[in-house]
Amino acid sequence: MNAAGDIAETLAKVLVCPRTYAPLTAHDGVLHEEQSGAAYPSNEHGYFDFTLNPEFYAMESTSEEYAVEQQSSWRRFYDEFLKPWLDREGGRRVLEVGCGLGLGIRYFAEDGYEAFGLDIPCLAKFWAKAGNDPRCFVNGDGAAMPFPDGYFDAVYTLGTIEHIGTKVGHYTLADNYLDTRRAFARELVRVTKPGGRILVTCPNKSFPIDIHHEPTDAATPAGTMRFRRYFFDCFGMTLHKPFGAYHLFSFGELRHLFCADAGAAGAEALPLRHYFAFKRTGSLGLLRGFKNLIVMYIEGMPPLLRRSCFNPFLVVEIRR
Ligand SMILES: C[S@@+](CC[C@H](N)C(=O)[O-])C[C@H]1O[C@@H](n2cnc3c(N)ncnc32)[C@H](O)[C@@H]1O
Repeated sequence: MNAAGDIAETLAKVLVCPRTYAPLTAHDGVLHEEQSGAAYPSNEHGYFDFTLNPEFYAMESTSEEYAVEQQSSWRRFYDEFLKPWLDREGGRRVLEVGCGLGLGIRYFAEDGYEAFGLDIPCLAKFWAKAGNDPRCFVNGDGAAMPFPDGYFDAVYTLGTIEHIGTKVGHYTLADNYLDTRRAFARELVRVTKPGGRILVTCPNKSFPIDIHHEPTDAATPAGTMRFRRYFFDCFGMTLHKPFGAYHLFSFGELRHLFCADAGAAGAEALPLRHYFAFKRTGSLGLLRGFKNLIVMYIEGMPPLLRRSCFNPFLVVEIRR
């Protein structure tokens, strides 16, 4: 059997059709859902592709520059935040939705976990270049995933949820953004085992400064762009209104999406200890000299403040 055949055989033991959730079978290196006749071949980079919405093929979410930036901080982030988070409650099956380059999934797989990473098709070329194992990485949409119900002990999605339901290549919300976000949250809940956990992180909409993203076009009230761009050039952060429709989430909005809309049991804002020191925080610009103070403030926040407008960044654990 050739390499694609071997990989298809391995994946068919776990994956399901993202349309019907029926099991898949492998024939001649292609995954098939027999009842509907759907076929999922691997792409030119060797990764199986479950993308249903053709719009995702036009989306380029990652540049070479951003890929290098992601690489620099991941090892410490994994050792000091992510692996301890998973190990806190045990469990060997883990999924990252919107995994980017997939370093976390590579580390989990090397440590003997059953780990899968899912991201949209444009990531496949980066995975191939990095040598990511096609048994652990699949292309697709977080809102329609090829994994069985309740399969994972834990699912995590970092800095991704705020891009769900936005227009291709922008932070601008699409007209149907709420439906898309509900479908995304339902999928994350569906593939998590009852009692399992989902980790969701995102800049906090209730805090008026976004430490991750640049100011953008349609998300910017008319007339304020020059000042917001100037502020970003000085401090590496973006001023924004802390209410109303915007691509970021507040704690209450995340809780509502996952619990009221998607049926999860609860949501808790976790301490940011070891999250911020290593993960991408933006450049901080003129505030760089105060980085330690800023990190101390963020990491030392008591539980009530973590859900409030005094917290710039949400690290939320959802309980299925
Ligand atoms: C800001 S990057 C974060 C990457 C990675 N999680 C990290 O923290 O280094 C957001 C990621 O979400 C992915 N993404 C956007 N929409 C997605 C969707 N509908 N399904 C799965 N991934 C998606 C993008 O391709 C991108 O890799």
